[in-house]
Amino acid sequence: MNGPEQDQGTGGSTDAFALLQFYAEAGVSELVMDEAVDNYSLPETPPAAQPAPASAAPARGKPSLPPRPQPTVSSPAPIPLEGTREAETARETAARCQSLEDLRAALAAFDLCPLKQTAKNLVFSDGNPAAKVMFVGEAPGRDEDIQGLPFVGRSGQLLDRMLASIGLSRQENAYIANVLPWRPPGNRNPTDAELAMCRPFIERHIELMNPEVLVFLGGVSAKQLLNTSTGIMRLRGKWAVYKAGDREIPALPVFHPAYLLRQTAQKRLAWRDLLKLQEKLKELGLS
Ligand code: URA
Repeated sequence: MNGPEQDQGTGGSTDAFALLQFYAEAGVSELVMDEAVDNYSLPETPPAAQPAPASAAPARGKPSLPPRPQPTVSSPAPIPLEGTREAETARETAARCQSLEDLRAALAAFDLCPLKQTAKNLVFSDGNPAAKVMFVGEAPGRDEDIQGLPFVGRSGQLLDRMLASIGLSRQENAYIANVLPWRPPGNRNPTDAELAMCRPFIERHIELMNPEVLVFLGGVSAKQLLNTSTGIMRLRGKWAVYKAGDREIPALPVFHPAYLLRQTAQKRLAWRDLLKLQEKLKELGLS
């Protein structure tokens, strides 16, 4: 590994410090029990048009959240461009794959996506393919393109700390992929055509990986895979259902780590979402 973004030669104490730093930035300032408690959880839907009684005022120091409209995951606006020749070829190619290795090989040989021409490497996945939880990000950046692995730059380091905060790691019990397996040049936003062409591959990737729980990292991943135009601000932290063939997989959209690097105050919300994930894994007997 090289470059200023890489955490070279980290020892256990550095990792522990980084984890503590994440907790601190997420607003976790005290350990009062063995199990973490979500001190920020407030009712999701305060009763409409009922003024809060004076005694219901939030305790000092706790954020007072305004009532939020509920997401519209159930009424999706379909994303266009399905049905182009490239997208159809991608779908047929992906459908023929019977294993993750087949899929990796099929992507390596797939030449219709122009992103492949400018990328250095295919970025297929990282982590444990037997994990019960799969994280899906947007697209590789520079570091990922160089190493051929997802989430290895700064946002990946933050993602690792987020995973560690709830007992997950890519070495052991988490699996990570992206909606796009090639870096868009200069990290520009992916076009609709690129997303449509790569979508059959990530859909097949999810089917073959067959996770019990999905986490969508950021708006691009959440919108693509939930087939909705609702933004991440409204989607995050709310369990949705992802349909993979005849399976329905619980899916949690969360903020993208790169966004959290820019908007550190949002780590508080990210922490709440992580607790929801942890709770779900417990509920399903997966942790
Ligand atoms: N951002 C992503 O969405 N994926 C990566 O692999 C790296 C950064």
